[in-house]
Amino acid sequence: MIFGIGLANHLYTSTVARMIQTRDIKLVGIVGSGIMGSGIAEVVSRAGMDVVVCSRAEQTAHATRSAIEKSLANKLSKAKISQEQMDTAMSHVYVTSKIEDLANCDLVIESAIEDLTTKQRLFVELDKVVKLSCVLTTNTSTLPVIEMARSTNRPDKVCGIHFFNPAVIMPLVEIIRPITASDETIALANAFVATCGKDGVQVADRAGFIVNALLFPYLNNAIAMLEAGTASMEDIDTAMKGGCNFPMGPFALLDLVGLDTSVSILEALYSEFKSSNLEPRPTLRKLVEQGKLGRKSKQGFYNY
Ligand code: CAA
Repeated sequence: MIFGIGLANHLYTSTVARMIQTRDIKLVGIVGSGIMGSGIAEVVSRAGMDVVVCSRAEQTAHATRSAIEKSLANKLSKAKISQEQMDTAMSHVYVTSKIEDLANCDLVIESAIEDLTTKQRLFVELDKVVKLSCVLTTNTSTLPVIEMARSTNRPDKVCGIHFFNPAVIMPLVEIIRPITASDETIALANAFVATCGKDGVQVADRAGFIVNALLFPYLNNAIAMLEAGTASMEDIDTAMKGGCNFPMGPFALLDLVGLDTSVSILEALYSEFKSSNLEPRPTLRKLVEQGKLGRKSKQGFYNY
């Protein structure tokens, strides 16, 4: 059951040709209602497209809608958006706990945890339920998109669309092209990203793509520096902010990204590039084992 109004308007069948000609994406599905799924849903709704967020449980599905509403209300209170803009954005947001409710989506963004088996299972399910013309994408940070494409009967209609955290603020989106993706799929992904008001860059399907392949060796080295006793984490953060004009130091950024996600990203990078400075540092693993996952669990390198 989908929670929201007016979805019946979109229970239409659209041909692949029409969709690609007009770049007409009316209904976007998002699988996963974590920080990224919820942030991407807000971006999509504000860009004027209907969005259905599929969560694992009804309760978390409703919590996602409330989180988007709260984020928009925050912008309203700062006069960044009007009441009308907030109401219009919210009228585009639907939530569900059933993957079948994504059947009529034109584009789906999988935004579940960074675990290849979980993502492949979701792609198998999505491939069965969505219409033939639907393009399936993943918001993975590092995992091989080709492995998800191969789990489906539509590998030509699968690519990566990687938003950055916080999705509402960060302008960049990486569009990842596995060798199986068609030109039409990449053109559609480009058009979608532009409609979202984001800057798209195109990248080959190699672990870490552009940003994480360059960012995570730096983040891991910052932990190594802390472990070596070179400086305190506060001073390392202060140094990188003041010395490089970065908006956040490495430890604050690790906490924002999520320490469990950071371990997954480093493991994927290590398994592809085999460089020793990509092996997740012991301190990072220890924090994850203790359930300290960063901002989302209120404890990470820092307490929140
Ligand atoms: N979610 C949504 N909005 C947020 C936010 C969050 N987590 N944190 C801050 N904001 C908003 C604030 O509400 C504020 O909005 P308004 O201007 O409309 O009022 C705006 O961002 C600025 O916030 P602040 O003034 O409080 O703080 P700031 O100036 O320090 O900015 C920041 C916060 C945008 C997070 C900034 O510190 C920043 O850009 N940090 C770097 C983030 C980054 O590098 N992200 C990439 C991570 S890597 C990744 O995502 C890849 C991956 O695959 C893991």
